[in-house]
Amino acid sequence: MLSILLFALAIDARVEQLLSRMTLEEKLGQLTQIVETQLPNDLAGSMLHSGGAAHINELQRPRKVPLLIGYDVIHGYRTIFPIPLAIASSWNPHLAELSARAGAREARAAGIRWTFAPMVDIARDARWGRIAEGAGEDPVLGSAMAAAYVRGFQSEPGFLACAKHYAAYGAAEAGRDYNTVEMSERTLREVYLPPFQAAIDAGAATLMSAFDSVNGVPATANRHLLDDVLRNEWKFKGFVVSDWDAVAELMKHGVASSKQDAAIKAITAGVDMDMWDNSYSTLAAAVREGRLPQSVVDRAVRRVLREKFIAKLFDDPFTPETTPPALDRDAARRVAQQSIVLLKNDRDLLPLPKSGRKIAVVGPLADSKEDMLGPWSAQGKAEDVVTPLEAIGTHVSIEDADIIVAIFGESREMSGEAASRSSIELPGDQQKLLESLVATGKPVVLVVMSGRPLAISWAAEHIPAIVQAWFLGTEAGHALADVLFGDVNPSAKLPVTVPRTTGQVPIYYAHLPTGRPPDPEDKYTSKYLDVPIGPLYPFGFGLSYTKFEYSDIRVDGCRTAALGGQHGRRGRRPHTCFKVSANVRNTGSRAGEEIVQMYIADPVASVSRPVKELKAFQRIALQPGETKRVTFTIARHDLEFWSDKGWIAEPGEFKVWIGPSSASGLQSTLTF
Ligand code: BGC
Repeated sequence: MLSILLFALAIDARVEQLLSRMTLEEKLGQLTQIVETQLPNDLAGSMLHSGGAAHINELQRPRKVPLLIGYDVIHGYRTIFPIPLAIASSWNPHLAELSARAGAREARAAGIRWTFAPMVDIARDARWGRIAEGAGEDPVLGSAMAAAYVRGFQSEPGFLACAKHYAAYGAAEAGRDYNTVEMSERTLREVYLPPFQAAIDAGAATLMSAFDSVNGVPATANRHLLDDVLRNEWKFKGFVVSDWDAVAELMKHGVASSKQDAAIKAITAGVDMDMWDNSYSTLAAAVREGRLPQSVVDRAVRRVLREKFIAKLFDDPFTPETTPPALDRDAARRVAQQSIVLLKNDRDLLPLPKSGRKIAVVGPLADSKEDMLGPWSAQGKAEDVVTPLEAIGTHVSIEDADIIVAIFGESREMSGEAASRSSIELPGDQQKLLESLVATGKPVVLVVMSGRPLAISWAAEHIPAIVQAWFLGTEAGHALADVLFGDVNPSAKLPVTVPRTTGQVPIYYAHLPTGRPPDPEDKYTSKYLDVPIGPLYPFGFGLSYTKFEYSDIRVDGCRTAALGGQHGRRGRRPHTCFKVSANVRNTGSRAGEEIVQMYIADPVASVSRPVKELKAFQRIALQPGETKRVTFTIARHDLEFWSDKGWIAEPGEFKVWIGPSSASGLQSTLTF
């Protein structure tokens, strides 16, 4: 403890000393991030999208204050891991951590010291292409993943993470990227902010402000988010970088009259570093003419320098010019294996036999190396990718085949940034092609590769086996083959609701009740005329090659010292808490892993509460016939919601479930 305090004091002293020797222009340089080709760049404090140890060393050599080199290491740098939505399907934060550590190690060896990741935006509308980059629709799963990524990235010495995009960027109206967000403070606090707080609690050094406006105030000039919540409530000590051009875009949002006006608003609200648009260069005149206090500039410079000192950039700005690390194929394959969700498996069509049957591997994604990389691929190379066709290694024609594996879905450009779709059905003529495969009468296994859940209602009805494989990265083909042939028993579960049709989105399991819950017998209830109300596949759902049976749910009271919560709030007094437990038994004939989920609901409260909320989960391994008792703790903070007085828990009865998905499980009650 004392050594941490002394370290912090020593850093503060070094920051003050340096600050006192800097000119205003040098200070503003520290708050400016550019790409290398932007000139003049000799004062800039940070560059993005550059890499290569020798090259970065060249850039560092003439600098008085070392450059902080940033890069989008989203799901790998050279070895490409599954997209974050896929990793979230593993419900295994260790894998998120492992993938982040691998990405950081490779990037660090190329002179990069900062990644613009993790993206921790909750997304409940699959039209939004950036759903691919996050952990899906749920704040508890999202928070666990956010913290794990931060730990993984920052376990690499001198490497910084950046939780983005602060905030509510994933709630863009109509799923259209960069679009406006309107939301209640309650939804913001309960759903969209917790993963940011989790990232900060895990030590995230930086945050990126978002492109969107939140209730009319652009996130990049939003004092409520950047100051009241981030600094005053959460005590965030790192720095905030804007998103690309987002400071200048305050003019287009209609809240700034000039670049200088935009820069004043952004820095005053708490955006410390300006990405790409060079708006902060206008602040020298603003300070000299008395339109911006020098102290606001100094505050931002202190925050940036502090992180540079913590990253030991001053002590060690150079990168050894050695051979870059070899691809980490083992790690990429392991992570990908646990990211593949089995959605349907009629009559145990899967796993496929390893011999004796002729298997055709077809479809637009069967052999597409580029697409396996997903929307962000940093320095990943298509030639390193193993495709499903290569891994399965057969070239039989469809006429000769006994079984067809159809690898359909989206190209990598169809998800990620600026890749919203108004229809999330299979693109192009894939639906027709799929129908013609089914018309051959041969058994078809559909593998969906995509950056978002696709509305595959027809397939769900007509195809016996369906696998959601997302974009799996460098080892896509091997990992998929491992699952299809049963070397690996699938264990992943959906981190998002899969809709039946685009018209259902936004759709998510933790919705509020309505006064007229859907009733097929009663027209005047909340539903559609043309499609059932429920999802095609619910949040938390995923099959295995074995079966798990749940029994004997029990709730016990307990008294304990206060526990940290998913919101990161810590009570000072002992609180009442509960233990809820159930047995899970592997009733099949294979070993398998099950993701056991615990949900609660507050059926009568002073405000409407979600019909169900995930509170915790555990991944357990079970041998055939084995039973484990799984126990979760429910603390006061699990029962709380956001009110106009802050977080409160109201006395009364709560429902609690332990189960295999958001749509099934054993139910009990507890009284708080
Ligand atoms: C994206 C960010 C990204 C940045 C730098 C922006 O367009 O929104 O997520 O980190 O570019 O590449």
